[in-house]
Parts: sequence; C-alpha cells; structure tokens
Amino acid sequence: MCGIIGYVGRRPAIPILVEGLRRLEYRGYDSAGVALVAPNDLQVTKTAGRISVLEQMVDFSASQTTGLGHTRWATHGAPNDINAHPHTDSSGRIAVIHNGIIENDRALRTFLERDGVTFKSETDTEVIAQLIGRFYKGDLERAVRQALHEVSGTYGMAVVCADEPEVIVAARKGSPLIIGVNHDEHLLASDAAAILAHTKHVVYVGDGEIARITPTEYRLTTLDAIPVTKEIEEVEWSLEQIELAGYEHFMLKEICEQPTSLADCLRGRIDLREGAVHLGGLVDCTRELTRAKHLILSGCGTAWHAALVGEYMFEELTRIPTEVEYASEFRYRNPIIDDGTVVISVSQSGETADTLAAQTEAKQRGALTLGVVNVVGSTLARQTDAGVYLHVGPEIGVASTKAFTGQLTVLALMACYLGRRKHMSPGAATEFITALSRIPKQINGIIEQADDLKVVAQRYADRENWLYLGRGYNYPTALEGALKLKEISYIHAEGLPAAEMKHGPIALITEGMPVVVIATEGIQYDKIVSNISEVRSRGGSVIAIATEGNKEIAKMAEHVVYVPETLEPLQPLLTVIPLQLIAYHTAVLRGCNVDKPRNLAKSVTVE
Ligand code: G6P
Repeated sequence: MCGIIGYVGRRPAIPILVEGLRRLEYRGYDSAGVALVAPNDLQVTKTAGRISVLEQMVDFSASQTTGLGHTRWATHGAPNDINAHPHTDSSGRIAVIHNGIIENDRALRTFLERDGVTFKSETDTEVIAQLIGRFYKGDLERAVRQALHEVSGTYGMAVVCADEPEVIVAARKGSPLIIGVNHDEHLLASDAAAILAHTKHVVYVGDGEIARITPTEYRLTTLDAIPVTKEIEEVEWSLEQIELAGYEHFMLKEICEQPTSLADCLRGRIDLREGAVHLGGLVDCTRELTRAKHLILSGCGTAWHAALVGEYMFEELTRIPTEVEYASEFRYRNPIIDDGTVVISVSQSGETADTLAAQTEAKQRGALTLGVVNVVGSTLARQTDAGVYLHVGPEIGVASTKAFTGQLTVLALMACYLGRRKHMSPGAATEFITALSRIPKQINGIIEQADDLKVVAQRYADRENWLYLGRGYNYPTALEGALKLKEISYIHAEGLPAAEMKHGPIALITEGMPVVVIATEGIQYDKIVSNISEVRSRGGSVIAIATEGNKEIAKMAEHVVYVPETLEPLQPLLTVIPLQLIAYHTAVLRGCNVDKPRNLAKSVTVE
C-alpha cells in the first residue's frame, strides 16, 4: 500500500526520492508525489498514475537537499492528482505525507472549515496538514505533537516546513517507519527496500513515537515528549535481493529462488543425526508452548492458506486441537481465549492491519502470541511474545510465492519442535526432518519442468473459469493455486476440497473447463481419482499434479505434472510450485502486469 521516503542531508534530494519511490512501487499504488524544501521555499509535485509520469514532471537538477516522496493507494477520495500526497496546509509552507487512516477526519474537517480553512482535497491527510499549520509557531516538532493529540486513527507520516528546511518530523502509530542512518544524512522510509541503496543501518520508529531528523541527528520522543533511546540496527537484506537479477519479473525470480530461500529458512534449524529441530525464537516460551491446550493460527490471504496447512500439521504431529481464523474475523468476534491458548500469527510483511489487530486482541485476552514473519523488525515481529522468522529474503512480487513455502516450512518446523515434546517419536521426527531437508532440491527438479507448465498455460490461458481441487494437505494448496491465478491473471478461479465439488460447484463444469486436480500419493488418492472421473464425465479438462512414477493418472488427465515423492504433510511445498508457474505463465500470456496486479497491494496496512 502507500509508501514513504524522506531525505535530509547534503546531496540533492530528488534523485534519491524518485529512486526510493521506484523501490516502493511493488507495494501497489495509484498516484505519487514529492515535496522539496529549501529556505522559505516548498515545492510539491504530484500526479495520478505511475512514477514514470512523476519523473517527467520533476526537475532532476533541483538542488534542494531535503524532501519527501510518497506513493498513494487510495482510501479517502479517488486516485487523482489532487488527492495524491504530499498535502499542504493553507499557507503552503507545510507538507505532509501519510500512510494509514485518520478516523476522526470528518469531525476535524468540519471543525477546521468552521475556522475558515478551505480544503483542496478529499483526503484525511490534508486534515493533518491543516492542523499542523494551525498549531505551527516556529517549531515543527511541537506543532506535529499538538496536532497528533487531536487525531485518532493510524499513521506513519512525515512532515516538512519551508521555515525549517533541514528538518523532517515523522510520527508513527500502527504504520511502519524506519530511519536510515548515514554520515551527514538521514533517510526515512516505510519499507527498508526504499533506502537499502544508501544504508543498511536503521532505527525503527516505535508506535506512539515522534522522530525529528536533520542531516546530522535523529531524535525520538513519545507523543508526550519523553525522550526515547534506540539502538541502530542492521537490515539483513541486500540490494541485490531486491533487484531483478536478469529475470523478467520478481514473481518468476521468487518462484525460482525457492530452493535457495527454503535452504536458508532451514539453515541451522535441523539436526538430522539427532532428529531435532532448533528454533531459537521459541526457547523462552517452550514450557508454555508445550502446555498449550489449544492453538489458533491467524493470517490473511496466502498466509491464511499456509495457516490451513499448519492446522493439519499441528494436529497430526502434536495432537493439540488447532483452528485457523481469518485475522479480520477473529478480531471482531469475541474470540474464546482460555488458559493454554496459543495464537500464532502468520504474515510475510508483519504489517497487515488485520493480522496485527487480531494478535493485539489475542494478547489482551491473555494468550501467548507467536509470530511466523518474514520481515525482520516488522511490527508483528516486535509485538508478539516470541516467534520464528522465515528468512526467505525480501518478497517483492505482489503475489506471494516464496513466503508461502517459507511459511509452510516454518510451520512444519514448529509442529515437529512441539510434536517431539508431545507424542512424536525420535524416529518419526528424524523421518520428518529428513524429508523436509530434501524439499529444496526437489523443488529445483520441478522448476526445471517450467517449460511443460508453459504449455499448459498456453492451452488454457483464454479460459475465464478454472477450478482447483485437492484433499487433505492439498486442499489449502488448491486454494492457494486458485488465488495465484486470480491475483495476477484476473481469471475467475475457485479452490475447493475435492469432495465438496459435488455439493454445488460441479454445476459449473462445462466442456473444456480447466480443472486442476492435486492427485499425489496419500490416503485419499483413490478418492481424488473418483473426483477426476466426475470432472471428466462432465467434459472438464483435467490438469493433474501427481507423484512421479504414477503412470495410471496419464490415462485420466489431459495433462500431468509430476512432483517428487515426500511425506503427506510436506506435499504442499512441492505441489504448489507448478500452480505458481501455471499462474505466472498464464498471466504473462494474457499481457497482465504480473508484479503489480490491478487493485492489489503487497501489504494491506489498512482495514
Ligand atoms: C495482501 C497480499 C497477499 C498476502 C496478504 C497477507 O493481500 O497481496 O499476497 O498474502 O496481503 O499479507 P502478509 O504480509 O500478512 O502475509
């Protein structure tokens, strides 16, 4: 969603701001803008549409050394030039960029209008700019503090003022902000990707904190002006990881990276000789976790699908009753949290608003809260009691791929870690982690078949309705396969537990309709073969994902994609790979913008 970049230093700000905005593009946006400050001068340039449009409008030789840049994903008001950020106060001397939502925007707007303020835009952000302008008496930080005392809602925001040309004031409540620290310059961003080209040294702005940043200094205080001391931390991601490295799209790069990203995820965590899993992030809560009576997994989108697989894994390996909740539902439905309830939040970004709110709700009700998160230092990682990072590297493509398999891997590790402390025998644990350790290499083999999957995509790319069927562990995989196709190729696709097809969706099957069936070896294999027959007898075209060596299936399906054999709980790690590639090639064939699909955001930071 919206992205923030700020610069205050000795170099011209504009190239740094535009490059930062480019790095934030992947998050999804519909308009963009910059503000440049010099003594007694504030210049704002903004536009609806792509950064490339903004690039045509700005002067790359501009000498200002302080500025802000923003990508907007519309919430209040249409995505047009006027509603794009930055927003200024009536004097035109103060500019604000803002991620989040101001909830008392209506009341504040009415109040300010009665006071004679004329608004230019429909945004809630302009309300903040006008409020700051009203309070400004020569001290920007103080005016921001006063304004924020009037505001309720969420924000990650940055403010500049023509009267204080070497200062950026930033504030955070619920929407991430980091300060990049360099010699004689500081950067500000909502996402480390925007500043990695300049520095890996960062300070995370905490919730309820205000930062005042100049070229040589950053200072953090609470909303009530109490000083906050923070350590400088190092971002573990590199610039190369957020670049395309010769691939046509980030999504393809990230699909192909999975053998490496999962090897990274597993590194140092499994001991094949001992049959043991080591998860440093859980050490302090292992006693409490082992006593758990009830596990709740929560997340949104792809993370929710990973959680569904996790549910099956936890119940099978630990025998602890486990359920999965959409974070958005959980937070509002008065959830039952008893003594012994552990809530595990799954999130790539660690910034999804609903996932954060569900975790907060669970914590307030006394649950032990754990995070399964990719972005180190993200809000979820900080506010959970303990957790396990994915360590799969930055995911830039909006459609999640390597984060999904990273989530499955971490959930498998956690289930085994806990299972060993419950009912799982050493032999079973050794078998499980040995199979897990083979997954990266097995994925490599599937990726090598990418050309066959392109053929499948070519054959069906013009079809507007697809079904994805799976059973057991592969039911969530079917949901994930359908989601991938929907997200990036805008095709209507439904994922189902295969047996449910008979209870309605079978009515949709028409001659030649593509039906992807995950038919790998396992206890439900015979059942899924019956489902294939049901599809075929209604004219559907079956694309089967089957276990290597299964010759029989080729007689029943139009296309067969083979995956290597593994244990059933780990099958989704393999079966999802062809589904990711089918979705990718289909979207490319349909001319869709794979990495920036319409209407979607990488990280949904508003409700
Ligand atoms: C958005 C993204 C999805 C992602 C979901 C949850 O909808 O487009 O790809 O699965 O958010 O994101 P999270 O960062 O919490 O995993």
